[in-house]
Amino acid sequence: MSKILLAGATGYLGGYILSELLRQQHEVRVIVRNRTKLEQKNYEKVEVIEAEITKLESINNCCDNIDFVISTVGITKQKDGLTYMDVDYQANKNLLKEAKKSGVKKFVYISLLNGQKLKNLKICEAKELFVNELKKSGIDYCIIRPNGFFSDMSEIFYMAQKGRVYLFGDGKYKANPIHGEDLAVVCVNSIENARKEINIGGPETLSQNEIASIAFNIAEKEIKITYIPNWIRKIILFIIRTFTSQKFYGSIEFFLTVLSMDMIAPEKGKHTLEEFYGNLKNNHM
Ligand SMILES: NC(=O)c1ccc[n+]([C@@H]2O[C@H](COP(=O)([O-])OP(=O)(O)OC[C@H]3O[C@@H](n4cnc5c(N)ncnc54)[C@H](OP(=O)(O)O)[C@@H]3O)[C@@H](O)[C@H]2O)c1
Repeated sequence: MSKILLAGATGYLGGYILSELLRQQHEVRVIVRNRTKLEQKNYEKVEVIEAEITKLESINNCCDNIDFVISTVGITKQKDGLTYMDVDYQANKNLLKEAKKSGVKKFVYISLLNGQKLKNLKICEAKELFVNELKKSGIDYCIIRPNGFFSDMSEIFYMAQKGRVYLFGDGKYKANPIHGEDLAVVCVNSIENARKEINIGGPETLSQNEIASIAFNIAEKEIKITYIPNWIRKIILFIIRTFTSQKFYGSIEFFLTVLSMDMIAPEKGKHTLEEFYGNLKNNHM
């Protein structure tokens, strides 16, 4: 049994990692900025530090007596006025500084599949800058590079429920998204794994057309897909990058880019998209 500090426990992936850590009977300390978000889930035996990880002084000594740190901290859909550089880079750098100070054995960081190749995107630029800090820090590390999460595939199901799915291009690009529970197992096991970088996706590689037809099937709707030409996607990218701030366009820029390329990682896990969409449907009936 090791003592783990988890940052990001209130998020989609962090919640599954916390459950997996407890299932494996590790001692767990979490840093959260809003304790009530965690308390709703009724976790027992978890030491909670309430702090602003973006402010170094507020996490002083947070890693004392900790063996391993796992961080999923990053901006996904939050709109709290901070940039990827403030959170994905600087907040994780603050945590790394504390980890080094306290002699933590290993730091596990969740980046993105293909993050190294997509550094022209604001989110990847910040994440990969942190990856570089981690690599040169002298601390042992593991960088997990996951494909898109099932949570991000929900939108296709909701479009299908409304009767029409919109896809860019011809819908033939492929990806193998992964369920948080499957990914959490890999993240937790990485603390004892010698691999420094792990690319990972879910067990099924599907084209966007196939994902849409699974969604229509579960929603019990006729398949209706509108294909948006690639030139429109490029114009949208140009407009948002030119006329809006990165706080607005960062996540849109990311999705518009990864939807126009194959995103395929080694297949892992057992949860299928069909089962995930089935659960979404049951929860919304
Ligand atoms: N979603 C995907 O498809 C995907 C794919 C590949 C990689 N990733 C990466 O995996 C990581 C986890 O993703 P997720 O979907 O689990 O994200 P999520 O649900 O949005 O969770 C993000 C976590 O980061 C914390 N956080 C965000 N901004 C913060 C701030 N300013 N100060 C302190 N904490 C902050 C959140 O805390 P609060 O609860 O307080 O907001 C939350 O615990 C992210 O780094 C993401 O970029 C995501």
